[in-house]
Amino acid sequence: MRILNASGCLDALAAPDVARQLDVFVTKTVTPLPREGSAPPRIAETAHGMLNAIGLANPGRERFLAEHLPRLCELGIPLWVSVGGFSADDYAEMCSRLPPEEVEAAELNLSCPNVDEAADSAAEIVAACRHATELPLYAKLSAAHPDVAEVAQAVAAAGADGLSLINTLRGVALDGLLRPVLARGRGGLSGPSLKPLALHAVSVCHEATGLPIVGMGGIQTGRDALEFAACGALDAALGTVLFADPGAPARVRQELAAACAAAGVASPEDARGLAKSPETERKVPA
Ligand SMILES: Cc1cc2nc3c(=O)[nH]c(=O)nc-3n(C[C@H](O)[C@H](O)[C@H](O)COP(=O)(O)O)c2cc1C
Repeated sequence: MRILNASGCLDALAAPDVARQLDVFVTKTVTPLPREGSAPPRIAETAHGMLNAIGLANPGRERFLAEHLPRLCELGIPLWVSVGGFSADDYAEMCSRLPPEEVEAAELNLSCPNVDEAADSAAEIVAACRHATELPLYAKLSAAHPDVAEVAQAVAAAGADGLSLINTLRGVALDGLLRPVLARGRGGLSGPSLKPLALHAVSVCHEATGLPIVGMGGIQTGRDALEFAACGALDAALGTVLFADPGAPARVRQELAAACAAAGVASPEDARGLAKSPETERKVPA
């Protein structure tokens, strides 16, 4: 099981020592044009997790490719680029510009603002990117869709090589005077409260597609990561935990070994998909 960061949760250029603990570094989502992001405050702590409305702040495609990518390559860590946009062409253009000798995979953020997340449009974006690059494509899906497994099947049929699950889920936090804490009002909830929802999404998408899955959503410990493996994830990504514990990648990797021993499995790979639901087992012929 590789340990990645979740997109947008680590600035590898500002914290290279944290990035070097990872097996793969995933960039923040890059959009065609630069984005300032939302007005502050854009992060709020809640009793149930973190709420953010960063608004996809990023330098934009041209500056990312010319300035950020060469510096990220110097870190010597396998690199995935998170791609965002507002049309299938936006995504495909960025994918076509990613140099395969520098970038290991593209993660398509299919949960961008203003991008319809319906199964068809997710599949359309993946198909456009499939034509644009031979790089492995990971489709990052949101668990807000009523049937995430259906979206997963659609993107698999369109040529996705893997899935990244899950993105934040929309939420609101209020202050003492009942005003939204975030300037933008609404934001994306992340952290431990996402874990059961993320495990569900990983489990149904694993059963529906069998694709490699990067599991994320509230992972804080090695045991959490092992639970994602048991639900079908091949790899694990750390997001919100990195803000509180920059040593989390090395710690989680160490804890994984002990978590495997405690659960009676040899490795996370051996645990993969063990947590089948009784519903699924009934469907399997005896
Ligand atoms: C501050 C912040 C910024 C994020 N930015 C992005 C982003 O640019 N692209 C993306 O696909 N996901 C983004 N995410 C979502 C994370 O990659 C991850 O899917 C989510 O936070 C769930 O994992 P966690 O509970 O471990 O944080 C962001 C999350 C946070 C907290």
